[in-house]
Amino acid sequence: MTQTTPSLTLASARNLLAQAGQDHLLTFYPQLSSDPQRQLLDQIASVDWAELARLIQTHVLKKPDVHIPDHLEPAPFYPNIPPQDLAAKYDQARHLGIDLIRQGKVAAFTVAGGQGTRLGWNAPKGTFPATPIRKLPLFGCFAEYIRRVQDKYDTTVPWYIMTSPVNDAATRQFLEQQHYYGLDPANVMIFPQAMMPAVDMTTGKVLLESPASIALSPNGHGGSLKALFASGAIADMQQRGIEHISYIQVDNPMVRVVDPQFIGLHAIDNAQMSSKMLPKAFPKEKLGNFCLDHGRMTVIEYSDLPDELAEQRLPNGQLRFLAGSIAIHAIRVDFVQWLNTRPGGFGLTFHRAEKKVPFIDTATGQPVKPDSLNAVKLETFVFDALPMCDTSIIYETSRPDEFGPIKNADGHDSPATSRQFQIERAARWLESQGVKVPRLPDNAVDAVIEISNLTAIEPDDLDDVDLPEAIGRGREVLL
Ligand code: UTP
Repeated sequence: MTQTTPSLTLASARNLLAQAGQDHLLTFYPQLSSDPQRQLLDQIASVDWAELARLIQTHVLKKPDVHIPDHLEPAPFYPNIPPQDLAAKYDQARHLGIDLIRQGKVAAFTVAGGQGTRLGWNAPKGTFPATPIRKLPLFGCFAEYIRRVQDKYDTTVPWYIMTSPVNDAATRQFLEQQHYYGLDPANVMIFPQAMMPAVDMTTGKVLLESPASIALSPNGHGGSLKALFASGAIADMQQRGIEHISYIQVDNPMVRVVDPQFIGLHAIDNAQMSSKMLPKAFPKEKLGNFCLDHGRMTVIEYSDLPDELAEQRLPNGQLRFLAGSIAIHAIRVDFVQWLNTRPGGFGLTFHRAEKKVPFIDTATGQPVKPDSLNAVKLETFVFDALPMCDTSIIYETSRPDEFGPIKNADGHDSPATSRQFQIERAARWLESQGVKVPRLPDNAVDAVIEISNLTAIEPDDLDDVDLPEAIGRGREVLL
């Protein structure tokens, strides 16, 4: 149904904006036709102007003080391969994880509301072709993973996808066109996150992207914890008996969308929100650092971790602050419910990001394309919920098995590196089954191999697959 009346009257919009010192946003209103007028009023209605006015003082007109705790300790973690004294616990946890999945108590959740500016793909990032041979889009990789888990454990894993108002329609249309990659649409729920205005960093004025539109951008992946609740997704989960959310980003085709070992360790320790980590390859690798601040789990961004801490090593040479965040989490449904209903409000702090944001000059009506950073965007980060947990565990995953993100158009974390990591993983899985894989003198795989998630999500799944004895040099092999 088309909405015909705006959610706010012009008089109330004027009032709100005047109080917030943002009345310039209505400069072009009288010249607009009725649809764009309504759109602008709707946008104004969607912003919490009182909160924004506070944030402009604390985060835009000055840089917020980033408080680095004095007594940071490295966060303990469950190693990828269990030491002998933990082998029984890992086993028990894996079985618990499988039971939870079998009982339909685990949902998959993909945050896909980001703008993907670094990749520069002119469509939702989840539609980006990610696999080496089929060029299966990222959403397809996750959907096939979920189908495989559903088959393997004879269960349903509902899939929740967070979009933003910018890519929501395109995401829905894409998944419909792809027939949800074989998933039952009744078990796929798509909902948008909220937006925040971009603000001129010297004047504190909110920017207009066009005469009828505020320059809005998604409010960060931390917005997912609010949007899950506001959209009714949490209520839907509760009604389905879901207890745990498996949180993944949209950019990694190699991710274990639902991992029994990780869910099991998180559940067995009664954690509210847990995380997977990668051992950092070098001290200042661009990953958040899992630390303890007076016993509370916290993530310190790579740029904020003091050099002397980043460089510290244990007697065996290993980095003392080793655990890097790759934004994979297990989150209890009742923790998200609590975050949204607790006394004192939601409580994730905003972060300041300086950006180049094109805008309309309200004095001249002309568009301006800035050459330098001119605006502040305000975002919350999902990992800022970790210090609010009483218990939060970290589980180390294996980089070559689970990490092939597509973030940049080229260079590191790009489609090319992800493709190479996917081929390398497929080759190792085949070699573990005795298949001879051609390799070059530098050990690189001399073939293009793709294993669909429908075929195998772990090497043992290949036990039942009819495999070739050897792969020919330079061949393409799709399993
Ligand atoms: P990134 O930090 O990689 O940001 O997001 P991005 O917006 O996708 O990409 P760039 O920085 O513009 O190139 C990490 C994950 O968080 C999601 C993204 O979709 C991605 O899965 N995200 C990010 C949201 O869902 N909402 C946001 O507001 C920001």
